[in-house]
Amino acid sequence: MSTNFTIPEHIKDLIENKKILLVEDDSSFRKLLKTFLEREKFEVREAENGLVAKTILELNENKFDLVISDIKMPQLDGVELLEYSKRTRPNLKFIVMTGFAEILESQEAHELGADGFLPKPFEKNIFLLEVIELLSGVSLIKKSNDSSDEKSEGQMSISHQENIRPNVSDDASLFRKIHIDEFTQGSTLSSDIYIKVNDGKFIKVAREGTIVPVARISVYKEKRVNHLFVHRLDFKKYLDFNLNLAKVINKSNLENNKKIRILKHSTELILEDVFTEGIDADKFDSAKDLVTDTLHVISQDDNIFALLESLESHADFLYAHSVAVSTYATLISKEYGWESPTTLFKLAMSGLFHDIGKKEIDEEILNKPRVQRSSQETAQLETHASRGKEILSTINSIPNDVIQIVYHHHENELGTGYPQKLNKANIHPLAKVVALADSFCNQAMKTPDHEKVSAKVAIDRIYSLHGREYEKDLLVALMKIANYPIPDDLKKRKKISA
Ligand SMILES: [Fe+2]
Repeated sequence: MSTNFTIPEHIKDLIENKKILLVEDDSSFRKLLKTFLEREKFEVREAENGLVAKTILELNENKFDLVISDIKMPQLDGVELLEYSKRTRPNLKFIVMTGFAEILESQEAHELGADGFLPKPFEKNIFLLEVIELLSGVSLIKKSNDSSDEKSEGQMSISHQENIRPNVSDDASLFRKIHIDEFTQGSTLSSDIYIKVNDGKFIKVAREGTIVPVARISVYKEKRVNHLFVHRLDFKKYLDFNLNLAKVINKSNLENNKKIRILKHSTELILEDVFTEGIDADKFDSAKDLVTDTLHVISQDDNIFALLESLESHADFLYAHSVAVSTYATLISKEYGWESPTTLFKLAMSGLFHDIGKKEIDEEILNKPRVQRSSQETAQLETHASRGKEILSTINSIPNDVIQIVYHHHENELGTGYPQKLNKANIHPLAKVVALADSFCNQAMKTPDHEKVSAKVAIDRIYSLHGREYEKDLLVALMKIANYPIPDDLKKRKKISA
């Protein structure tokens, strides 16, 4: 057996002669791990259970850099050893090895501050990478263009990445939720994958570049785990992987300052501003994050960014309105139960571009209160749905669904919408979400027609004046987000399908 990856020289210096205490009651497995570690020039001491390990630690004050321990062992188990180790030597690193099914229940080990978890069974490379990362403080990843497979005997090339993804974290804001069914057999993970355990901690359970761990996924499903998580910084990779954006997105040539001004300064302010009194603040925050992520992903394409910019520069409220619709569409969709990242991404993008056709309409008409518009002006305004479709169709990297949603966002359940007066069965389901979000934003936010109002007032208006134009279950989802009492005629209806 050969060593199957090369550690960069500067990392070798960081880990040379580090001392590891290896605690495992299965002696053949222990010997195997010891061999792996010694090949990488680690100094290894073995212990057959927690009690032996504890004695070794007592006799060798501060000698070790890392403990790697199994959990289920006779005499003194891994959790007890971890507790002793963290109490007496808080700086001594500690990796827990555990059956992957048990990781969900190993809450105590998380609370006691284990520095890493290795779900068994694991590959040799994964084992070594975890150990090297922990001891060097450098995060190592497989090079993405590495075509060699995951078999443990294949040569593995690695590099280090700048942003270290933690093995364990309790900061929910760092993670993005992905439905477990999106991880399909045979595909290679485009990012590290985490699981959320009982106490709210996120534990890394699979690494970027490895094949989707099908056996683990089915155990999680049996335990009713519906979602896995990726680090927020990896979310783009995940979307690229699913939407093939990477293939079509142009390399950015635009000056960064322009992007920063629009994405960071003006969008952050708008997102603060579009919060409406009465809306659930936590749900709003998570929708806001999703819209921010979407903006960052799509603005890497210069053509798409130019569209955003034209929205921002055309009429004062157009960009703010688009960001608001994107946020509320995301909120409604999640509440309704459509929460796959791919769906939410398409929806957020559709919200941003639903009124892109208005960039071709006179600003004067856009800024006029509704009652002052002539019928000709109204007709001109209504061309924006078709214009939007035309504009978006010229850009390769815009998904077809997004074009369709933009085209349909003024159709309604009564079949009286524009431009096609579509029957409700023929309207893109996500266009129905954008239509409702659009209506909500028009009612709740400041427009040429009225001032900003609370969510309750906005929903009162939508329900009493236009209630029948919207898909009723989506209306219920909006009401729930605003804690609005559900009217009797909207209760107990069947869901529409996506
Ligand atoms: Fe519109």
